[in-house]
Amino acid sequence: MSKMNRRDFVRTGAVAAVAAATPRAVFGQAPTMMTPKGVKPVVVASANGNRYKNGGTQTCVEKAFEMMTKGSDVLDALIAGVNLNELDPTEMGVGYGALPNAEGVLQLDSSCMHGPKKRAGGVAAIEGVKTPSLVAKAVMDLTDHHLLVGKGAQDFARKLGFEILDDLNTEASRKAWLKWKQQTDQLHYLKPEDREIAIQKISLNIMREFGIDTEHYWGTINCDGVNAKGEICGVTTTSGLAWKIPGRSGDSPILGAGLYVDGAVGAAGSTGRGEANLYNLTSYLIVENMRRGMHPKDAGIDAAKRIASNTIEKRLLDSQGHPNFGINFYIVNAKGEHAGVSMHPAKYAVCTESGAQTLDCEAVFPEPAQA
Ligand code: GLY
Repeated sequence: MSKMNRRDFVRTGAVAAVAAATPRAVFGQAPTMMTPKGVKPVVVASANGNRYKNGGTQTCVEKAFEMMTKGSDVLDALIAGVNLNELDPTEMGVGYGALPNAEGVLQLDSSCMHGPKKRAGGVAAIEGVKTPSLVAKAVMDLTDHHLLVGKGAQDFARKLGFEILDDLNTEASRKAWLKWKQQTDQLHYLKPEDREIAIQKISLNIMREFGIDTEHYWGTINCDGVNAKGEICGVTTTSGLAWKIPGRSGDSPILGAGLYVDGAVGAAGSTGRGEANLYNLTSYLIVENMRRGMHPKDAGIDAAKRIASNTIEKRLLDSQGHPNFGINFYIVNAKGEHAGVSMHPAKYAVCTESGAQTLDCEAVFPEPAQA
């Protein structure tokens, strides 16, 4: 099948519609924060953004920061960073070699947003492509759409020349899935709520047995950056919830949930329980909080508290009545101020001109989440 070019994807009408777009101030809320010039560049990410190197010398935040400060487009730099995680077979929460769905198939989600261009793209439940973030960017660059899913997303990637593999499992991810399958099939007849709790317990135990970081239960890397010109972008990419129901999409490909960027205000992205984030559209909430003048830390804490107050089902609460799941936010504003915020103690990655660091998030609750 021939490769597609831009003309195949972008119809004249769509281009005309974009060109004729009415200025935002007429219909939308104008940003209250002006984009400052000369900000200190920074890249923030989930903690796995300063852990995996895919056999090279740099982590995601180091790579993204270097490219960004040498003049690359901010989003290109961030995506080159998360590509390291997507391609690293030992990173089991993102891309190639991540934990598959309940049928043993990897279905990947990703989204990206470009602040200055005010464009976005995403893919959900895409199979066979190691780097869903690059397909998300192609959706942004080459189509008039924001989200392609499943087979449509894969066909789109194939036509653009992306390599499509039959299977993105590694031996390690397949072995862990087989064990999970053997232990959970017998639970199919329990009440749904009991089954869900039992499966989560089994899943986390299997991850510990296989030496898989339990952070990979919800997988995901989010990476956001602002350069010296105040240009802000973000990208999120994930294999989603480990051993999920086939077709389940989390928050990562959904704008406003797993990622939100407003080029004049800031960026926020997330890792952790995607359902909580989808329900509360928390990345959007954080950016809107910053638009009203909140510091990234306060904007994130307010959003995490919103999730906590909207979490009322017993199965989702620990013995203290707090959410029993992890959810973390990585936030930058247009001044280059940044924060990592979490429901329970967690880390985040940051890279500035002083180098890369893994720091503690501001946690709403000081104790670890209970399974
Ligand atoms: N936050 C990743 C997911 O729930 O899929």
